Amino acid sequence: MASLTSRSLLLPAALLSVLAAASPAPTANPAANPERVLPRQPEITPSVVQYYPDRTVRHKRDIFSDFKSDVNGILSELGNVPSYVASGIEPYFLGFPTGTAVQSSLSLSNSDVDALPTQVLNIDPYANYTDQGWNVRFHGNVYKQPVVDNSTLDDLANVFLPNVDIKNLPPSEQDQARNLTASIFVLQQGDVNVSTIHLEPAPNQGSSGESGGGGAVTATGGTQDVQLPYKTTAEGDFDVFVPIDSNGLMNGNETQSIQRLNTHVEGATIGNSTAYLVPNEGITIISDIDDILRVTKIYEPEKGLLNSFARAFRPWMNMPDIYANLSMSLPDLHFHYLTTTPEQITRNYMQFIYSTYPGGSFDTRPLNFTNAKETLHVRKYLLDKVFQTFPNRKFILVADTSNSDVMIDYPQLATDYPGQVQCIWLRNTSSTDPGDRFPYDTSGFKNLKQEMYMFFNVPDDLTNLDVKNGQCFNSSVKQNVTFSYQGLPFGLSNNKSSAVVSARTQLGLIFAAFLGSLVWNLL
Ligand SMILES: *[C@@H]1O[C@H](CO)[C@@H](O)[C@H](O)[C@H]1NC(C)=O
Ligand SMILES: *[C@@H]1O[C@H](CO)[C@@H](O)[C@H](O)[C@H]1NC(C)=O
Ligand SMILES: *[C@@H]1O[C@H](CO)[C@@H](O)[C@H](O)[C@H]1NC(C)=O
Ligand SMILES: *[C@@H]1O[C@H](CO)[C@@H](O)[C@H](O)[C@H]1NC(C)=O
Ligand SMILES: *[C@@H]1O[C@H](CO)[C@@H](O)[C@H](O)[C@H]1NC(C)=O
Ligand SMILES: *[C@@H]1O[C@H](CO)[C@@H](O)[C@H](O)[C@H]1NC(C)=O
Ligand SMILES: *[C@@H]1O[C@H](CO)[C@@H](O)[C@H](O)[C@H]1NC(C)=O
Ligand SMILES: *[C@@H]1O[C@H](CO)[C@@H](O)[C@H](O)[C@H]1NC(C)=O
Ligand SMILES: *[C@@H]1O[C@H](CO)[C@@H](O)[C@H](O)[C@H]1NC(C)=O
Ligand SMILES: *[C@@H]1O[C@H](CO)[C@@H](O)[C@H](O)[C@H]1NC(C)=O
Ligand SMILES: *[C@@H]1O[C@H](CO)[C@@H](O)[C@H](O)[C@H]1NC(C)=O
Ligand SMILES: *[C@@H]1O[C@H](CO)[C@@H](O)[C@H](O)[C@H]1NC(C)=O
Repeated sequence: MASLTSRSLLLPAALLSVLAAASPAPTANPAANPERVLPRQPEITPSVVQYYPDRTVRHKRDIFSDFKSDVNGILSELGNVPSYVASGIEPYFLGFPTGTAVQSSLSLSNSDVDALPTQVLNIDPYANYTDQGWNVRFHGNVYKQPVVDNSTLDDLANVFLPNVDIKNLPPSEQDQARNLTASIFVLQQGDVNVSTIHLEPAPNQGSSGESGGGGAVTATGGTQDVQLPYKTTAEGDFDVFVPIDSNGLMNGNETQSIQRLNTHVEGATIGNSTAYLVPNEGITIISDIDDILRVTKIYEPEKGLLNSFARAFRPWMNMPDIYANLSMSLPDLHFHYLTTTPEQITRNYMQFIYSTYPGGSFDTRPLNFTNAKETLHVRKYLLDKVFQTFPNRKFILVADTSNSDVMIDYPQLATDYPGQVQCIWLRNTSSTDPGDRFPYDTSGFKNLKQEMYMFFNVPDDLTNLDVKNGQCFNSSVKQNVTFSYQGLPFGLSNNKSSAVVSARTQLGLIFAAFLGSLVWNLL
């Protein structure tokens, strides 16, 4: 792999041709030259860095070849799917231009690129405590941000905005759309060293600190510089546990409190983050973001794209109050935000979360998850990593029913890690949003006790629960769990013995997963 590679950002073929076709004046503007936007076959670039040699990949089903066999059937079944989505559906993805193609399409010479400052996306890490001391999982991406003029950005942004021209959006939405587009068209820096990372104690956020609420104590030490042991992957990613010196920090087996360290990558102007040193025992909330902490309406593709791409992030109802109360009344709670949104728009997610919800560590989709199968399993991969890092903590898992991977992975964790899942809270998006037409599978909950999970409708359903003592279920919230596919389109009933119906429901589920990942892959 060349050292300048980009993108695991994937577009279906049809959209790629829209990209090519929508680009004006192909010879005058190299950015718009369709020949430079070369589709390539999807591939997984193996990481140069191995951390989990014994990792086994679960759910190795070839669902996309099944999917291909009845695309048209399921599309007509679901009905009302915008044609740009329908025509873009392929059982495989095609890649964006590589880093060098981004470079040449933007007419950047090597010396132009050399002159650009190196940026680091330093995603807020968590750390566990081992016999060797604290172990911080640094992860993120090293890239360069080319300077792109607005008219080129607008052409590129329009590809993500079906039926809307960026010129017709209000100025604030234009800014947001340009910002996200620019974040996507970056030059990832493969096979480079991440510079020195400085660590120092972060001030106490206390009960009055963060706008979103947030506990933690002032760390009593930890100041030091660390080097990562490996270079970045071909896509510019780094993801590695690094043991740090205690230098006065409390031991993780002797406290319940979270200690925070500021981390700052030398030379990177926007490479700051907070590391959360999480004790061995306690409760961690793992929360998804879209359609649970913010309004995305990912199940309505056109709105989903506009919300994701152009509109300011908006919290979902009074969810911030619920999290703030949890965080302030249980200051030792650890929040971990785990979303499968692509890594390059992580900054926008982090900015929204940290100004609206309690501070916490973060996970997004690493760039080397580049094909459909990996994309569908990235959540389980990231969840397994957190569970294995904190084998003696209990977890509260939060998301919504429109995520088909969540519906499988969350209950599976209760089986895979006995005793570690305390609660599963799933917002029933169909109950408040008739626009949610996608089926969801509740069969994974069959062997779980009702006390352990709750399908809820509004944030207030989560008030006054005695979370500390393990209460998860609000008995005044009516449950209607059939342990099968629910919310099927057009009144299709679930009949497990009927091959036709089950094939269709399976495809419907896959479609929902696919659509969700498609929307994300567009971003
Ligand atoms: C992606 O890279 C990470 C490290 O950055 C590695 O642990 C993981 O196995 C890689 N995944 C794939 C699908 O190559
Ligand atoms: C905590 O861990 C440290 C280092 O492994 C050990 O020296 C200490 O005795 C442990 N404390 C307790 C209370 O187990
Ligand atoms: C380019 O777009 C940015 C972000 O929308 C805006 O702030 C800036 O004023 C625009 N520049 C010009 C020259 O129009
Ligand atoms: C986009 O906005 C975020 C948040 O304001 C900012 O940190 C980031 O630098 C911007 N990205 C680009 C490419 O302008
Ligand atoms: C990268 O880091 C290694 C080990 O710290 C060092 O030996 C090497 O010279 C560094 N390379 C560059 C290009 O800075
Ligand atoms: C990042 O951290 C460094 C070191 O603490 C500090 O000097 C710098 O101002 C911070 N940058 C931002 C953007 O907060
Ligand atoms: C800390 O996390 C690492 C990486 O996930 C894991 O291998 C290790 O077992 C964890 N250590 C403890 C003591 O939980
Ligand atoms: C979700 O809400 C819809 C609409 O109110 C309802 O029909 C469905 O049964 C609910 N699902 C669950 C799992 O409670
Ligand atoms: C349960 O939900 C209702 C309705 O949202 C709410 O008023 C109540 O406070 C919740 N908590 C408990 C423990 O009943
Ligand atoms: C706030 O959280 C605490 C601890 O979980 C709980 O006891 C209390 O009832 C909550 N209050 C509200 C209004 O949800
Ligand atoms: C319960 O769920 C089933 C299956 O999705 C649905 O047919 C039924 O209408 C739901 N009942 C209520 C009261 O929402
Ligand atoms: C389920 O499908 C089978 C085979 O098509 C049929 O014999 C059976 O009557 C169906 N059951 C229900 C409850 O519809």
